[in-house]
Amino acid sequence: MNTAVDQAAFFKTVEEKSESGALRGDYALADAQYVVAQNWDAYTPVQHALWRKLYARQAQLLPGRACDVFIESLNALDAADGIPQFDRTSDALFKATRWRLVAVPGLVPDQTFFEHLANRRFPVTVWLREPHEFDYIVEPDVFHDFFGHVPLLFNPVFADHLQEYGKGGLKALTLDGLQYLARLYWYTVEFGLIRSPQGLRAYGAGILSSGGEIEYCLTSPHPRRIPFDAERVMRTLYKIDSYQETYFVIDSFEQLFRDTAPDFTPIYQRLKTLEALPADTLLADEVSEGIAYI
Ligand code: PHE
Ligand code: FE
Repeated sequence: MNTAVDQAAFFKTVEEKSESGALRGDYALADAQYVVAQNWDAYTPVQHALWRKLYARQAQLLPGRACDVFIESLNALDAADGIPQFDRTSDALFKATRWRLVAVPGLVPDQTFFEHLANRRFPVTVWLREPHEFDYIVEPDVFHDFFGHVPLLFNPVFADHLQEYGKGGLKALTLDGLQYLARLYWYTVEFGLIRSPQGLRAYGAGILSSGGEIEYCLTSPHPRRIPFDAERVMRTLYKIDSYQETYFVIDSFEQLFRDTAPDFTPIYQRLKTLEALPADTLLADEVSEGIAYI
């Protein structure tokens, strides 16, 4: 079992949780944007060894399951040997797509998260899970954030999309549209599938940092795999404590960019008048792709 319960799941609650100590990170030293120093020297040899184990397990699962862009970028990151130094990756990332990484204590408030994305900064949690959380962790840690999310930021189209998502988030805050946008993030950035000439592949970070879901999402007969439709996705509830009931499939990152570009204001208005769809819905005109052979 994975999966990292992600940013989207904590929408609205992170401020209270960090103040009450319910979140794991140390928020005491964070600045106004919740940025901290990574403090790389403080990671212990045991933690670097745990990272190497996580990385090795996940890396061998990628061929035939992760999309090519992810695999190629990850290899270029050279992060197999220990917890990476964010500043080094950040420099390489800036050269590639003008994004930067910033270190954060853990989940950050919605507005802060969106502001970072809108300014091409990706927040990466500094702490690493404990050995007993090897297979399952509730909050996102440095392994999920870095391994799962950073590779695709090297892709220019995905990188532009995520910036637009950040801007869209700031806008959604003013339109009471947060829950809809959170669903979009969940079913794309975290749990998205993409078509390739060789068959379906995963690009979502929640899948790619998970030892179990990376296989399940492609080969289990249980979940639905439905062509991506932005409004349908924004209407669909999601599970945060089990594998997904439904995956939405894009043809390309260009499609993701294009289909999320229109003004969502009328969509939010419409969705407010509609019942949300359960996570395991299959509408009458939808066909699930069934098992993907890899
Ligand atoms: N087009 C969306 C809006 O008008 C913004 C957005 C872009 C949202 C990209 C998600 C992804 O609100
Ligand atoms: Fe995530």
